[in-house]
Formats: sequence, structure tokens, C-alpha cells
Amino acid sequence: HIPVITIDGPTASGKGTVAQLVATELGFHYLDSGALYRLTALSALYRGIALDDEQALAKSVESLNCGFKDGDIFLDRENVTMSIRAEEVGNTASKIAALPAVRKALVDLQLRFREAPGLIADGRDMGTVIFPDAELKVFLTASAEARAERRYKQLIDKGFSANMQDLLKDLNERDARDANRAVAPLKPAEGAYLLDTSDLTVNQAVEKVLGWYAV
Ligand code: CDP
Repeated sequence: HIPVITIDGPTASGKGTVAQLVATELGFHYLDSGALYRLTALSALYRGIALDDEQALAKSVESLNCGFKDGDIFLDRENVTMSIRAEEVGNTASKIAALPAVRKALVDLQLRFREAPGLIADGRDMGTVIFPDAELKVFLTASAEARAERRYKQLIDKGFSANMQDLLKDLNERDARDANRAVAPLKPAEGAYLLDTSDLTVNQAVEKVLGWYAV
């Protein structure tokens, strides 16, 4: 049996950073499921697939040629670690993530990340849909302001331009889409520990998760 810790939560809640550090600390693998939605989005933009063509999008997942190595992410051998973080790609990912056939097509790919000695899975439906038998489930949140600020810093650090007002608007739109979609809406899994990180440092959040796992 391979243990899994799921960390779900809204956009820019700091899940990715916390999840990666927990993975490093435990020597576990790390699944950034959002990256798979972003890769699907980027591939659709490249291939010119209409963003409302659910079947074509789902089909494109079958031939999605992606790779993960040492923290870098590849699409058709191109290093897209940076380009999938663009807001346009994130917004497109959020839209196609509402399509049931796309979500279904991505299930197997996500399950394959469960490898010994263990997995930290980061996303929206890791605890509710993909790994319902996880050892530990965490639902990470933060205020909209804290999240907009984090996303702003993240984008600027990566060399993108960003505007606080637009980010807050995007964030609220994405939250609404994630929470209100018919399949796998964003919500805490049964038995999930809630962690509000608005006033926590990254290390404090990591310690919390490790503490829950140790119990
Ligand atoms: O950067 P942000 O937190 O907005 O998103 P992400 O984790 O990189 O994922 C991109 C988009 O994929 C999100 O806005 C979600 O709508 C969607 N997603 C999802 O529906 N289910 C997941 N397990 C992960 C991401």
C-alpha cells in the first residue's frame, strides 16, 4: 500500500509550495494536478482546438506527450515550465477543467503518480475524487487578498507582468467556476483537515501538515 497525502484548495492558496516542501521532507513523489490541466490547455492552444469542443479536448489528452523531470515540465519535449504559468493558460485550464470528459480523460494519468514510497497530490479534487483513500487530506485556504498578493509576487518573480485588480477579478472568477461546476466541484473532502494560511508562514503550514501526518 502506497501512502498518499492530498492537499486541495482554491487558486493561489499556497498549496503548490507547501505540497512540494512536504514531499521533499518525506522523500515522497509530488503530483501537481493543476499542471496537467495547464498542459492540456496549452496543448489545445497550440493545436488550435476549440475550447468548447469537449470531445476533441478529451481526445487530445490521450496523445498528450508530457514529461516531468527534476521540477521541470515538458510538452512534446519542449520545456514549458514557465509558459504553463501564464495567466492565459491558467484561465484556459480553469475553463476546460469544468468539462467532465476532460476530467475523466486525466484520471489514469494522475493515478500513475502513486509510486513508492508515497505521494503528495496537490489540486482541487485529490481528496474527493482521485485519491479518496488517502492517509491524510488537507484543505488549504487563504483570504482572497492574501492569495492575490501571492499570485502577484509569483508572476512578477517569473518575469510576467501583473495587475492586482485584474488578479483579484481572475481569482474570484476561477473560485466561482471551481466551486460551482457540476463535476468534482472544489470542496473539502470528508475528514479533511482545514488549514487557513492567510497568517502563516510557509514553514508553519508545512509543519502543520507534517504534524497531522505523524499522528
Ligand atoms: O494556479 P492555480 O491554483 O489557479 O491553478 P492550478 O492548480 O495550476 O490549476 C489550473 C486550473 O486547473 C485550476 O484553475 C482549476 O480550475 C483546474 N484544476 C482542477 O480542476 N482540478 C485539479 N485537480 C487541479 C486543477
